[in-house]
Amino acid sequence: MSKPTLGTAIFAVLLAGLVGVLGAQQGAKDPGVRNDGAPGAGDPLPNLTAGQLKLFEIGKEDFAEAEGVGDGLGPRFNLDGCGSCHIAPQTGGTSPAVNPQVAAATAGGARNFVPFFITRNGPIREARLKYKPDGSRDGGVHNVFVISGRVDDTGDARKCDIRQPDFATQARNNNLIFRIPTPLFGAGLIEMIPDSEILSNQAAASSQKATLGIRGRPNRARIGGVSGDANRNANDGTIARFGWKAQNKSLLLFSGEAYNVEMGITNELFQTERDEAPNCQFAPTPNDTTPEDLSLPAIELFAGFMRFLAPPTPSPDTPGGVGSIGNGRKLFSDIGCALCHTPTLKTGNSTVEALRGKPVNLFSDLLLHQMGPGLADDIVQGEAGPDEFRTSPLWGLGKRIFFLHDGRTKDLFEAIQFHKSGPDRRFGPSEANRVVDNFNRLSEQGKQDVLNFLRSL
Ligand code: HEC
Ligand code: HEC
Repeated sequence: MSKPTLGTAIFAVLLAGLVGVLGAQQGAKDPGVRNDGAPGAGDPLPNLTAGQLKLFEIGKEDFAEAEGVGDGLGPRFNLDGCGSCHIAPQTGGTSPAVNPQVAAATAGGARNFVPFFITRNGPIREARLKYKPDGSRDGGVHNVFVISGRVDDTGDARKCDIRQPDFATQARNNNLIFRIPTPLFGAGLIEMIPDSEILSNQAAASSQKATLGIRGRPNRARIGGVSGDANRNANDGTIARFGWKAQNKSLLLFSGEAYNVEMGITNELFQTERDEAPNCQFAPTPNDTTPEDLSLPAIELFAGFMRFLAPPTPSPDTPGGVGSIGNGRKLFSDIGCALCHTPTLKTGNSTVEALRGKPVNLFSDLLLHQMGPGLADDIVQGEAGPDEFRTSPLWGLGKRIFFLHDGRTKDLFEAIQFHKSGPDRRFGPSEANRVVDNFNRLSEQGKQDVLNFLRSL
């Protein structure tokens, strides 16, 4: 072997530099929706009793059903069925690849325009307004569609003449924000995590959390409304946990509220219509009630279905293989993601055996965190402030298409980067800023391992 000359040494350095540049260009990348055949979600929990399994099944049927004018749909609505929004990768999930709201706009001859934030390949969205015209806080859902002109199998709304909100003007005035559906797999387990478990997890690893700037507090239900609407929900002082801001206490409450808010169908929890325009009422209120034979009303059926819905099944080896996923899981903890996205909490002594003393691998602490001006939506719900969100449960991430509360990205790498922002004039820095810095300091292989781990969930 000849001794290397200065020339070959320089060449070697240049080559190494070139490889480095190319390597960086092939940086870590979200592997995309996990495509391993099975949906990995949508089944009932194991070990349900015969009665519970029956409730799951009839609940699922009702949950999946689309409703029409004669059933009480509207006068304002976002879509026509629970299972129309909570659909991917299975009934109970979230937004599918093709947004069904586009077709819903003109279904049955209705003349709704499709607002700019609803697109064919974008996420299902609902809209909220930050402030009312008088400058006081709004925060409520303003429905995308109206039934005006719609004629379907169940009823005829040609006499109804209300109009959609002027979303374009609201957007120009920076007064409009969006939310996408959250998946419901494993929701019954989340419902059964005792407050004491959430609080002891909050107290754990406190010095590590303090060093990284992570605080977090539970959204305690209180008088004034868990969902930002005045005096709707009674106060018992316990920890609310459902929704992007942990604004709702239970699956039954969410069922009643979603039935009225998303579909305009009044029920025994929400008795009166949100829009009482007289020309637009085609069913007596509440639209859904306990049947004469004392079988269950729809909201109980929805809640039963969701309560008994099993959590998603993670993949041991896809994408990237067992080694990469295992390393990603370790890095996820090492760099601080797991300080908010707690891998496992445990249910308490549930009356339902299938929900009793079970590990819940949700990857959330169910607490609210200040997420900086970049994510802040300026909506207050219960004790959740304008820049606070519940740590999103990450189970089922492998099969999800859209991320973050408004569905602003389909890319997990970007979803991580969006955790970092601030402070600015109005909002403090995101509690996740330093953890994102830790992520960005990982080697490209390390980042890839974290992304593979997330897509295995
Ligand atoms: C137009 C689409 C749409 C329809 C229809 C819809 N939802 Fe949702 N769902 C959402 C959105 C958006 C959220 C997140 C709301 C938020 O937190 O602001 C959500 C959240 C939820 C949650 C909270 C889950 C969690 O872990 O945070 C439950 C429970 C739920 N919906 C149940 C229902 C039920 C039951 C129905 C039918 C009565 C229904 N939804 C109909 C869009 C929809
Ligand atoms: C300070 C607490 C905190 C830390 C630290 C944190 N997250 Fe999050 N994460 C959240 C919150 C809160 C949300 C919801 C934000 C929103 O939707 O606006 C979220 C959302 C997400 C989402 C989108 C999930 C969905 O439902 O759309 C992913 C993916 C995610 N986090 C991954 C990570 C990873 C990976 C790390 C570590 C690099 C991390 N997070 C660190 C609090 C945190």
